[in-house]
Amino acid sequence: MAEKTVIKVKNLKKYFPVRAGLLSSIAKGEEKFVHAVDNISFDIKQGEVYSLVGESGCGKTTTGRLLTRLEDPTSGHIYFHGKDIAFLKGKELKEFRRNVQMIFQDPYESLNPRLTVFATVAEPLIVHHIGDTIDEREDLVAKALEAAELKPALEYLHRFPHELSGGQRQRVAIARALVLRPEFIVADEPVSMLDVSIRSGILNLLLDLKEKFGIPYLFITHDLSVARYMSDRIGVMYLGTLVETAEAEEVIHNPHHPYTRALLSSVPVPDPYYKRKRKKIKGDLPSPIDVPKGCRFHPRCPFAKKGICDKKDPPVVEVEPGHFVKCHFAKDIPAMDEAMEAEMEENVELGEELLQETMNSSDEEMEIVEPQ
Ligand SMILES: Nc1ncnc2c1ncn2[C@@H]1O[C@H](COP(=O)(O)OP(=O)(O)OP(=O)(O)O)[C@@H](O)[C@H]1O
Ligand SMILES: [Mg+2]
Repeated sequence: MAEKTVIKVKNLKKYFPVRAGLLSSIAKGEEKFVHAVDNISFDIKQGEVYSLVGESGCGKTTTGRLLTRLEDPTSGHIYFHGKDIAFLKGKELKEFRRNVQMIFQDPYESLNPRLTVFATVAEPLIVHHIGDTIDEREDLVAKALEAAELKPALEYLHRFPHELSGGQRQRVAIARALVLRPEFIVADEPVSMLDVSIRSGILNLLLDLKEKFGIPYLFITHDLSVARYMSDRIGVMYLGTLVETAEAEEVIHNPHHPYTRALLSSVPVPDPYYKRKRKKIKGDLPSPIDVPKGCRFHPRCPFAKKGICDKKDPPVVEVEPGHFVKCHFAKDIPAMDEAMEAEMEENVELGEELLQETMNSSDEEMEIVEPQ
C-alpha cells in the first residue's frame, strides 16, 4: 500500500496583492492581500487521484496552478519526487513543466482556435524539443490522440477546434497534456463546462489513463459526488485552507469537520427539481481578504466556542490513521444527531443518483462535426 509520494506540499501559501481603489475598504497606501492559498499541506502518491473540493473562491484553482508552477508561491514547499520545485526558475523550471500538465475547465478557451489539432498537440513537443522529424512528431501526436480516444487519429489531425464537439475538444486538451508523458496531471473541473451527456466519457477516460499509465492526478471539483467517484482521497478546502483530508469514502461517511458536514448537506445538485431540497450553509462566505481570526470557519460553525475558535488557528489533528481534521474540537465534535445524519445521507444519495444519471446518459457524438 505504501505507494511512492509524487507530490508533497508543505505550508504552501499564495497571497495576491490587492490594490487600493479596487475595493473601497482599502485605503490609499494600505497593503492588503487575497489569502487564496493559506498554509496548506498534503501529498499525492503514485497512481492516486486526490480531489480538492470546496466552494467557489476557496483556492482550488490557485493550488492547481501552484503545483504546476503556472503561479509562483508566496512561500512554502512543493516537493516533486523529493525535490523542492516551489521556486525553480529558468531551465530547471522548464524541465519540471515538461513533467506536469494541467487540464483546464473550458476547452473552448484553452485551445487556440487558429491551430489545428495536430499543431495544438504538437506544440509542447516543439517547446521541449522532442521528436526530430515531422514524422516522429506526427507519430507521438497520433498516439496521444488515440490515448484520448480520438480514433482514428488521422481523422482529427487537420481539424480546427470549431470543427469538434465540446467533448472532442476536451479530449484534444487531454491529448495535449498526455503527449509529453507527464508524471503528474492537474485536472481543474474538466467536465463542468461540458454538456451533462458527455461528462461520463471524459471522467472515465481520466480514470482509464490513471490505470493505464499510473499517472497521479490532482482533481479539482466543487461537486462531492464527482470527487467521490473519481478519487482515492479527498481534501476539503475552506477559504484557502485544507480543513479535512481522508480517503474518499471516509470523508463521505465519517466527516468530522463541521464545514465538511455542511458541504455534504448541501451537495450541489444541478437539477432544479432538487433545488428545493438544498440546504444552504449558514452565513455568508467571508472575504479572503479579511479572513476571520482564529478558525476561519468559526462565524458559520454551529459548534464554535468563544475564546478558542475565534482566537486561535486550529491545529491539524489526525483523528484516525490517514484522516486529518483542522479543528480545535476535531476529536470531540458532537456526534451527528439522527436527523442531521439522515439529511446528509439523503443528500449524498441524491448526489449519487444524479451522478449515476450523468454516467448513464452518455451519448457522446464521436462523429466529426462539419465545419459551419
Ligand atoms: N490572479 C489573481 N489575482 C488576484 N486574486 C486572485 C487571482 N487568482 C485568484 N484570485 C483570488 O483567489 C481566491 C481563490 O481563487 P481560486 O480561483 O483559486 O478559487 P477556486 O476554488 O478555484 O474557485 P472556483 O470554484 O470559482 O473556480 C479568490 O478570492 C480569487 O478571487
Ligand atoms: Mg477554480
